[in-house]
Amino acid sequence: MSDLADHLQQLQTEALAELAAATDVATVEGLRASLLGRSGRLTALLRGLGEVDPAERPASGMLANAVREGVEAAIGERLNALAGADSDARLAADMLDMSAPGRPLRVGHLHPTMTVERDLREIFHAFGFEVFEGPEIETDAMNFEALNIPPDHPSRDLWDTLYVAEEGVAPPQPAADGTILRTHTSPVQIRAMRALTPPIRVITPGRCFRYEAVDASHGFEFFQVEGLVVDRDTSLADLKGMLEEFARALYGEATTTRFRPGYYPFTEPSVAFDVSCLVCGGPGCAACGRSGWMTILGAGMVHPTVLRAGGIDPDEFQGYAFGMGLDRITLLRHGIPDLRLLMSADLRFLEQFTAGR
Ligand code: PHE
Repeated sequence: MSDLADHLQQLQTEALAELAAATDVATVEGLRASLLGRSGRLTALLRGLGEVDPAERPASGMLANAVREGVEAAIGERLNALAGADSDARLAADMLDMSAPGRPLRVGHLHPTMTVERDLREIFHAFGFEVFEGPEIETDAMNFEALNIPPDHPSRDLWDTLYVAEEGVAPPQPAADGTILRTHTSPVQIRAMRALTPPIRVITPGRCFRYEAVDASHGFEFFQVEGLVVDRDTSLADLKGMLEEFARALYGEATTTRFRPGYYPFTEPSVAFDVSCLVCGGPGCAACGRSGWMTILGAGMVHPTVLRAGGIDPDEFQGYAFGMGLDRITLLRHGIPDLRLLMSADLRFLEQFTAGR
């Protein structure tokens, strides 16, 4: 066999080995150029065909063609294999399993007390009340004095107060400007009267604070919704009718109610408003102290002194006000035995109340 045939076969062996070792497309393309390009190794050998002995030329020509085709085929195969591997890798990296179930989103929900607050907002909205909010940090003047509770008046005992301390004074002293944490939402009555012109019809939901020993039914922090109506001919009968409708909207049509005499310095007359026991419905049980009734709020006709503090002439306008705690409504609604759970921030407890989404 001629030298050329030897060379061809040797080159084929080398080329196939090099191609087999190539691991990326660029290397294969480089090999193609160095083998079959204009100055490629195989091209150079093919050019040598012209100098082969004419007797051997047909055989050499056939061999040369076979080698070239073999190398071209090997390049094609290698490129296919690499392209397949490439796209397999890309596919694996980008894989999105369309049939996989979605990842659960953690959706939060309202605190059960806030759900009660929203319900009350809705009920009173239907009765034509707008929402008027006031600050949680108040002054003694707003929380007490404007509400007809002078300093040292014994009725202050009804509201055990948390005082904001004077800055930089030790031992702590109540701030000289009378800054306190509001003990009820009633100071917002004054703010609403000063900000709005009658007729006024507002509810003032919000957080309140009292200096309480914490137990299953007392907290130092709680929520109230206050209501205030000021108009020319507002009477105790209006208050009674409003509250009866409210109790039925909150607790159902079968709810019965009663007024009892009460005392608040900022209302005259003052009443306590009871609903038929939410646990036993009337006959008496442990939850209602065997009385068949539960007191849900305090109310009354706004005291003339309070109207005046709000900048309203009591000879021209009257008003009624009521205030209720939301925490007990929440406990009763869900049968929660301990008030402390509401402020515990314990997700195992809170996650049960998904109704407020
Ligand atoms: N502020 C009173 C309390 O916290 C409730 C109340 C509000 C009573 C409005 C009468 C009128 O106990």
